[in-house]
Amino acid sequence: MVSAARTLKPEPFAAGGALAVREVTHRFELEGKPLPVLDRITLDVAPGEFVALLGPSGCGKSTLLRLVAGLEPPSSGSLVFDGATIAGPDPSRVVVFQDPTLFPWRTVEANVALGLEAQGLLKTHRHRIAEALKLVGLAEFASAYPHQLSGGMAQRAALARALVNEPRLLILDEPLGKLDSLTRLAMQSELARLWAEAGFSALLVTHDVEEALILADRVVVLSGRPARILAEIEVTEARPRARDGAALVALRRDILGLLA
Ligand SMILES: Nc1ncnc2c1ncn2[C@@H]1O[C@H](COP(=O)(O)OP(=O)(O)O)[C@@H](O)[C@H]1O
Ligand SMILES: [Mg+2]
Repeated sequence: MVSAARTLKPEPFAAGGALAVREVTHRFELEGKPLPVLDRITLDVAPGEFVALLGPSGCGKSTLLRLVAGLEPPSSGSLVFDGATIAGPDPSRVVVFQDPTLFPWRTVEANVALGLEAQGLLKTHRHRIAEALKLVGLAEFASAYPHQLSGGMAQRAALARALVNEPRLLILDEPLGKLDSLTRLAMQSELARLWAEAGFSALLVTHDVEEALILADRVVVLSGRPARILAEIEVTEARPRARDGAALVALRRDILGLLA
């Protein structure tokens, strides 16, 4: 469903794309032996949908995101984005990792510019830098250097660098995982707002059940390695969501039961 907030989204941010993961199996090689990591994963992210992935550590969550990002091909199965098979990285599908990886010698603005420089779009699309910084609440820190930012602000800068590409799918690999708990709560609200304003589809890996329930339309629970889908849980609560609301508390209990 497209909400009222979506129809008011500021240009030029692009609308969400559709991801279709079909029967994806993946294995690595470890000391000459195959290491199965993903087991027939079939998963959709609808345009504008926010999907969260939860699963035990080492089960294959980051691997699945890497396949969606096009950083490597699956051993078998298919990944299709907006009707085209994913064959490599593309600015329409950007990843934000746990570590913001900003260049310390570049200002915030110049770090965000990297997203455009990589595509040769800096000259024509420079205006997007200020827009992305405004969207993440860092407009006043455009000239700051990474060492002058808090952890939460650095992660906002990394989000801006991703958003400057106008992604149709934002791929988030535990982006708030290293933040202290208060900053993490604040950034969860920020992410919810960004998603509502910018209109991208989102695929988030988190180890925090509550974070998944606060942010996602659907929570996908994975088994231990090789990851299989154990359950898909729709979260229909209206936003903004109360962490301690009865519905979320009940879902949290169910999910923790699945993960135990
Ligand atoms: N390039 C690689 N080569 C070999 N094994 C890998 C590689 N990348 C990840 N793995 C292994 O695949 C498994 C899943 O890793 P990962 O997807 O990072 O898990 P998660 O993100 O769920 O914690 C782990 O056992 C990890 O050691
Ligand atoms: Mg991981």
